[in-house]
Amino acid sequence: MSLCSIELRAIQKVYKQGGTQIEVLKDISANFVENSSYAITGVSGSGKSTLLHIISGLDTPTTGNIIISLPDGTSSNLNKLSSEQRAQYLNKYYGLVFQQPYLMNELTVIENIVLKGLIAKKPALQQYQKAELLLKRLGLYEKKDSKPSRLSGGQQQRVAIIRAIFNEPLFLIADEPTANLDEAHVQSVIDLFLECKQQWNMCLIISTHDMQVAERMQYKFRIYDGQLIPIN
Ligand SMILES: Nc1ncnc2c1ncn2[C@@H]1O[C@H](COP(=O)(O)OP(=O)(O)OP(=O)(O)O)[C@@H](O)[C@H]1O
Ligand SMILES: [Mg+2]
Repeated sequence: MSLCSIELRAIQKVYKQGGTQIEVLKDISANFVENSSYAITGVSGSGKSTLLHIISGLDTPTTGNIIISLPDGTSSNLNKLSSEQRAQYLNKYYGLVFQQPYLMNELTVIENIVLKGLIAKKPALQQYQKAELLLKRLGLYEKKDSKPSRLSGGQQQRVAIIRAIFNEPLFLIADEPTANLDEAHVQSVIDLFLECKQQWNMCLIISTHDMQVAERMQYKFRIYDGQLIPIN
């Protein structure tokens, strides 16, 4: 049986700004596989968000390819898919956590979490019960019927984290998911991520400035001078 994976082949990203060009990512090759956890560290501005956006297909590399291998044994070149296909892939296989939570303010906290499952016609009661358990676990049960704008930044971030894992994605890509959290919540979030990895063989890729968070991942990298460098 083939492994699910995201393979980066010689990724380069150049931003053009006015007359100048910045080469943020120079020549990055890596293979992120199922049931594994990866930390990407690097100073502010080193290219962590850029790389995670490229891995998710939300941004395209200047050169290079991203090959996604799926449970049915098929592989696809992410940037050769039509935008519709790419959106379907994202929806089905990816969970994303951005530096900003991007919650829908017209909906309550719990509605934000169950929305995708309800659209996919999953049983509502089960979805709400599952969401309640996760909200309790991350200390947000009392906020379940609040609008996200009434929550603190760290609380919104935790809602975005629950939403991202809720539909059991194959790949979880999280950009500094614990940046706004206190120490206890950092640990609960990482515990939750690692449990998801065990439960459904999720591949977890997170960027972080926090070396304690990085230490809990199996594989650790630093982006330095546009390269992805393994660290011990
Ligand atoms: N759309 C863009 N156009 C031009 N330059 C950009 C763009 N997006 C990012 N950059 C530049 O690319 C570099 C890497 O940015 P990126 O956001 O990937 O860094 P980061 O490692 O995520 O930083 P942080 O830790 O602050 O989140 C920065 O120098 C940034 O100014
Ligand atoms: Mg960033």
